Amino acid sequence: MADMLSTTTAAPAVIRRTDYQVPDWLIPDIALDFDLDPALTKVRATLSVTRNGAHDRPLRLDGDGLVPLEVTVDGRPLEQTEWHLEAGALIIPLTGEAHSVETLVELAPERNSKLMGLYASGGLLCTQCEAEGFRRITFFPDRPDILSRYSVRMIADKARFPILLANGDPIDQGDAADGRHWALWNDPFPKPCYLFALVAADLACNADSFTTMSGRAVQLGIWVKEADLPRTAHAMKALKDSMAWDERIYGREYDLDVFNIVAVADFNFGAMENKGLNIFNSRYILADPETATDIDYDGVEGVVAHEYFHNWSGNRVTCRDWFQLSLKEGFTVFRDQNFSADMGSHAVKRIEDVRILRAAQFQEDSGPLAHPIRPESYMEISNFYTSTIYNKGAEVIRMMALMLGAERFRAGSDLYFERHDGQAATCEDFVLAMEEGGQIDLGQFRRWYEQAGTPHVRAQMAHDAASQTVTLTLEQTVPPTPGQPDKQPMAIPLRTALFDSATGQHHGHELLMLTQPQQSFTFPGFASAPILSINRGFSAPVIVETNRSQADLAFLSAHDDDPFARYEAMQQLMVNVLIGRIAGQAVDDGAVIDAIRNTLTDPMLDPAFIAETIRLPSEAYLGDQMKQVDPDAIHAARDAIQTKIGTELETLWRDVHAKTKANAFSISPAAKGARKLRNAALHYLVAAGAQDGPAIAFAQFSEADNMTERQAALGSLANGSSPEREAALDIFYNRYSADALTLDKWFQTQAFALHPDAVEQVEELGRHKDFTLANPNRVRSLYGAFAGNQWAFHHKSGKGYRLVADCIIALDKLNPQTAARLVPPLGRWKRFDEARATLMRAELQRILAEPGLSKDVTEQASKSLE
Ligand code: TRP
Ligand code: ZN
Repeated sequence: MADMLSTTTAAPAVIRRTDYQVPDWLIPDIALDFDLDPALTKVRATLSVTRNGAHDRPLRLDGDGLVPLEVTVDGRPLEQTEWHLEAGALIIPLTGEAHSVETLVELAPERNSKLMGLYASGGLLCTQCEAEGFRRITFFPDRPDILSRYSVRMIADKARFPILLANGDPIDQGDAADGRHWALWNDPFPKPCYLFALVAADLACNADSFTTMSGRAVQLGIWVKEADLPRTAHAMKALKDSMAWDERIYGREYDLDVFNIVAVADFNFGAMENKGLNIFNSRYILADPETATDIDYDGVEGVVAHEYFHNWSGNRVTCRDWFQLSLKEGFTVFRDQNFSADMGSHAVKRIEDVRILRAAQFQEDSGPLAHPIRPESYMEISNFYTSTIYNKGAEVIRMMALMLGAERFRAGSDLYFERHDGQAATCEDFVLAMEEGGQIDLGQFRRWYEQAGTPHVRAQMAHDAASQTVTLTLEQTVPPTPGQPDKQPMAIPLRTALFDSATGQHHGHELLMLTQPQQSFTFPGFASAPILSINRGFSAPVIVETNRSQADLAFLSAHDDDPFARYEAMQQLMVNVLIGRIAGQAVDDGAVIDAIRNTLTDPMLDPAFIAETIRLPSEAYLGDQMKQVDPDAIHAARDAIQTKIGTELETLWRDVHAKTKANAFSISPAAKGARKLRNAALHYLVAAGAQDGPAIAFAQFSEADNMTERQAALGSLANGSSPEREAALDIFYNRYSADALTLDKWFQTQAFALHPDAVEQVEELGRHKDFTLANPNRVRSLYGAFAGNQWAFHHKSGKGYRLVADCIIALDKLNPQTAARLVPPLGRWKRFDEARATLMRAELQRILAEPGLSKDVTEQASKSLE
């Protein structure tokens, strides 16, 4: 059997970081000529090629599914014997140092269901080239260290595609015969081919302008379907705010005369930073109060900023090879996080970002797909657009910024941009620039790029009354991860403060550098034992274990002046009670109830911060705290304490819910905070099981003038089985079934519901007439959300596993990239009981036995079995 498997599915080749070789040929210029049509598009490419160094190797142009209809060198059409194809690539032996090479290929964009390369979406034509999609458009050395100047000519039917956009600046346009028209765009900045883009569409434009710090006017355009124009205001504001912020904080100015953004309905990821022509998943552009939640609004702001910031961190300075992906992604996430913090609340943004990091990255780092932020090998690069590369990558930059301080960090980033402008750089280049510009030794710190796994830090305090000193002993371990059984100690910056329990004050905070496996720090001047506040602001992406009592945590949850540490103390208080209960101990939950009451009634606190802090850790997070996850026990324990919090504080919840009702909608941080708290109150009220709970939720659902309150009410109802649940779901469906992004919420809310029949409901929704595998947002709304619903997905029948595996198998035939993203939840089998683990493994094996399985899913499923 094992033999049969290995012969039917040839293992995909492994690409290694250390195998990097400089390119044999460079392509300083490329001219592209597109004759665009959804059924049949012709692409003529003219490449200027120059030999790079002394060698006699042929020109190799990557291709994926392309057939060369013509190959011409220096104007002479080649015979079929003068070139050949090798694994899709076009190989042309050439003598001499420089040539002009021309190829012609044909594409069928409307049949491109992978959404990589040139494809059709909702009647428009667009491209997605990162990471390796350009080779599906034309023959080209598809690697990020080949930088070329692009000239792009497009011709298309004018009625169907009145708008023709590409990278750079528009040069010329005109009408052609047969109702067609053409446009010519030039991009003066040499760029890697993954940043190429074009769009042919019938779209309307939200046009605006921005004057840069040197006084240049930039024309801004956000292109959407005419009817969606009123939903683009928030994205435009975010774009202008981002442009100003990057000038102010990093001294980075925009460099072209135009900046366009196009929203498309079918997109594999969030958005793409193509030079001067960003292409977005429409969910990160469109927002209005009727259809978008506050989280959606923040998503629009953050992703618009992220893609804009890539113009410097990614485009002007790009990556030498895909192992350096975190060079642009980690740094750019760090930049967009700080931008969003500056636009709203630093405290709340940090809490949200850490919650995301723990939910996605810590899970990844403790499982079979763990990898360093600079991986050593991959089979399919699309599988490495991970939370580790993005979010842990951002944390690594954040630690450097913390160690350096704002000024020296800016000196380092200035040096980095100046030294590498126009180049394809490495993570090492970034670290070197930080060392030189910021005057710091990052020798040991580099291990954050090399070692996978979340470090654990044990912190213990010993007080000595005689000398009035306290000694903090820190011990670190980095767990083994695939391919890395033994780990070296990391350099871990821990922001720490010691609170005097008598005065409630601390003696100033310090940045402790933990660099050894075990290290002690002694502090004088403590007559009595202080209370430890550590990893303040989440200064390092580590798991800290302390022996702090519930009383100490309660103290910090009420008094810590670091908002993150305050939130963290509350979370730890809750985790201790819940994990204790799950282990069958009779832990007192009084401290939790008191802490929530104190927080709720503290007039000094921001409502958004209160809402974050009083929220129970998710079922998945609780699972992460256990050696073996018991989904049913976790659900029961969490449900019970939720009911108790709801019941004991019922008057407060009713009061908060009533007081936070607004007269009219506003998107201000204060209004968002009020809604967040209102929804938290509603949630506890419904959980309390009060008789009028569903009625209150239904009233909020019906009366809300915004999606934030409407969807939250629907979510609260969806967890229960009241008649209001079905009524609200029906109303929601009928009201929004014509709007894909909003209908996604209808699928997602049900897939996420903590409802005993969630598995059956998801199975039925998979057969719903509005469900389609062709749209990645819809797939993620149903199966992506469901796989994140620990209680439902891990139903002991194994039905949840089967549903997701069925989806992966069906989707792989259309869109392997999106299919592969559904595999990791099945790979966490080691953390579950034998029965569940067996069922999960069986599904992974069933997936791997599929004939013709993609490289994407093969890599994720086979690694997940190890
Ligand atoms: N570079 C994009 C970003 O982070 C990510 C991205 C968009 C992507 N589309 C993709 C990655 C397709 C891989 C494949 O903003
Ligand atoms: Zn990015």
